[in-house]
Amino acid sequence: MSANPNKALWEKGDFTRIAETMRESGEALVASLGVGEGLDVLDVGCGDGTTALPAAQLGADVLGVDIASNLVAAGNARAQGLGLGNCRFQEGDASDLSALEDDSFDLVVSIFGAMFAPRPFEVAKELVRVTRPGGRIVMGNWIPNDPTLVAQILKISSAYSPPPPEGFVSPMTWGVEEHVQERFAGAGVPEENVSFERDTYTFDFAGTPAEFVDVFRTFYGPTMNAFEAAAADGREAELQAELESLFAAQNTIANEDATSIPATFLRVTVAV
Ligand SMILES: C[S@@+](CC[C@H](N)C(=O)[O-])C[C@H]1O[C@@H](n2cnc3c(N)ncnc32)[C@H](O)[C@@H]1O
Repeated sequence: MSANPNKALWEKGDFTRIAETMRESGEALVASLGVGEGLDVLDVGCGDGTTALPAAQLGADVLGVDIASNLVAAGNARAQGLGLGNCRFQEGDASDLSALEDDSFDLVVSIFGAMFAPRPFEVAKELVRVTRPGGRIVMGNWIPNDPTLVAQILKISSAYSPPPPEGFVSPMTWGVEEHVQERFAGAGVPEENVSFERDTYTFDFAGTPAEFVDVFRTFYGPTMNAFEAAAADGREAELQAELESLFAAQNTIANEDATSIPATFLRVTVAV
């Protein structure tokens, strides 16, 4: 296992199993960005390419960077399977993109990716550094205490997990506008160049809400860790029940044979 806990967390499971339920929203988000031929796009914390591949399909030259080697391999396999020579994936850390040169990309996207990296001020600096003047950064960040799915999964999971190490900055702080402003200000971006809107991602799963909980329990690093901690305290059944009732309550499909759950996030656009 990796000595880097951030990398170990995401290599522990297999995020592709969750990402499979997020494809439509990924495509819709990319379609809203005006991506096309001639655009150099960087996707940070790209996973297996939920947003990187649609951007390449629209003609952009895309590099996906992710800390998890299994997801980098999955992304490259998907790009190859689709015959996309304009999309490649490599390992890297959002808080240190030193393998990438300054001013290299017209659009830097990070959808629920860079928010999970340590050292948020370094992350903001790196995202700005690799973006060309006149270019854009678009982040999707989950919002702390939001009543929708992912914020609630992370909140419930943390209640079963040991307290984080001292100095740990919660990824959810990327969902608070003041923190985002402060981090990009630290990277030299004036306040008026950072804008915010609420947006929605929908998780579509071909199974019941309880079966979808099992996917998170088996493949999603943060939930896997929460179940391990809960097991040590004899509270696994309690955690399972809490998540099952959350997923069932959020499911918008009346017939519970399938699951569709919308989740709200903070969309951040930075003009560089
Ligand atoms: C919730 S997933 C989102 C993946 C993808 N953007 C998507 O929308 O499907 C979070 C991703 O961030 C990656 N990640 C976490 N910490 C990172 C870091 N420090 N640098 C780069 N990627 C990171 C994880 O490996 C994982 O692929």
